[in-house]
Amino acid sequence: MQRIGIIKAMRAEAQPLIERLGLEPAPSPWPDRLAPGLWTGMCGPARIDLVWMGRDDRHGVDCIGTTAATLAAALLLSHRSPDIVISAGTAGGFIARGGAIGTVYLSRSPICFHDRRVPLPGFRESAMGESPCIDVSEMAEALGLEMGVVSTGDSLDAPRSDLDTMTRLGTHAKDMEAAAVAWMAAQFGVPMLAVKAITDLVDGPHATEAEFMEHLHTASDRLGEAVERIVAW
Ligand code: ADE
Repeated sequence: MQRIGIIKAMRAEAQPLIERLGLEPAPSPWPDRLAPGLWTGMCGPARIDLVWMGRDDRHGVDCIGTTAATLAAALLLSHRSPDIVISAGTAGGFIARGGAIGTVYLSRSPICFHDRRVPLPGFRESAMGESPCIDVSEMAEALGLEMGVVSTGDSLDAPRSDLDTMTRLGTHAKDMEAAAVAWMAAQFGVPMLAVKAITDLVDGPHATEAEFMEHLHTASDRLGEAVERIVAW
């Protein structure tokens, strides 16, 4: 039996896929005080384990970003032993690189952090992450999905230094989790893929947070549809 692990940050991003795959909430095999929640189900011969990163109860919002993503990935990898890990979520896109609201990107290797700057030998490269993901060009072609560079930081906005790094990397999808999940998957030697649906355009005329909220649900639907097809493939 193949085991596919999926990590999602916001509940709104996870819900369409939970419904499409008919996943059921499962008691999490990790301590109760840790936020991530688990949904499981079968998709054909494959077992799906979807880990939602959970709630930040102190602030009454969903957990997002690399700290919670690293925890969710570590729990998924150590408790459910997936054969592959998918970081699925929303991202900011770039008009300059052909991006549009609703575009779904499959990640190209490597997946880097765009907001870590440590100008010391060795630490510079370590901070950048540069973690591998699997080559899914054949699947992208078969499913008619685009491939793109995914890079990760812990902010929704994009200060100049981050933008410069994203220009250098050629980022198509700016997210807040993929590089953390990729790093943890690499520690476990488990293949990884990021699937990101665009909710807002980083180099567009609209405020990111307003555009993100406006398109969160439609992009999450697109994401759910794409991940369902990926899992079936
Ligand atoms: N998720 C959706 N839009 C994003 C953005 N602009 N930056 C980081 N993560 C995002």
